[in-house]
Amino acid sequence: MRVIYSAEEIAERVGGLAREINADLGGGLLLVLGVLKGSIIFLADLVRRLEMPLKFEVVALSSYREGDEPGELHFYGKLPEARPDERILVVEDIVDTGRTLTELRRYLDAHYGRPVSVCVFLNKPGRRRRRVDVDYTGFTYTGDGFVVGYGLDYAGRYRNLPFIAVLEAGEGE
Ligand code: IMP
Ligand code: MG
Repeated sequence: MRVIYSAEEIAERVGGLAREINADLGGGLLLVLGVLKGSIIFLADLVRRLEMPLKFEVVALSSYREGDEPGELHFYGKLPEARPDERILVVEDIVDTGRTLTELRRYLDAHYGRPVSVCVFLNKPGRRRRRVDVDYTGFTYTGDGFVVGYGLDYAGRYRNLPFIAVLEAGEGE
């Protein structure tokens, strides 16, 4: 595999994202919704840099069953309650075709009766099929290939890598 963002670069960028979010949403209460499982490592780093009073919860959904082929979008369980005075920030690992985030955003806006904000660690615009609104983007990766690490997996593996890397031919099986 080939490293594209080191642990140090990631830490610096997460700090930058937190500064943006603190500046924009710092005035009130925040409910952070991390999307399992890919966002949890990013979520853990990000929330420790946020300065407003916040709660965080995780929501479970899956769109990719195995490897990199898209499956159907599924939501699991009950969504967390939000107070009327809480802003909602959704934290996702990656936006690729845009399908997951577009549906998730529409679903959550309707469920909570207010527009949610979205923070995505990695934007991969190469295969984008839908226009997606992302309020906070960590990195934009315009190269090819499947990326892993810092929460991102290939068939369940590599989430624990402290960096982001692109899988090379023959890897991941
Ligand atoms: P989208 O619906 O195509 O935008 O894909 C979003 C989901 O696909 C993410 O939440 C990931 O689970 C998965 N995904 C897409 N591309 C990658 C990748 O390069 N590495 C790891 N997961 C990916
Ligand atoms: Mg995911």
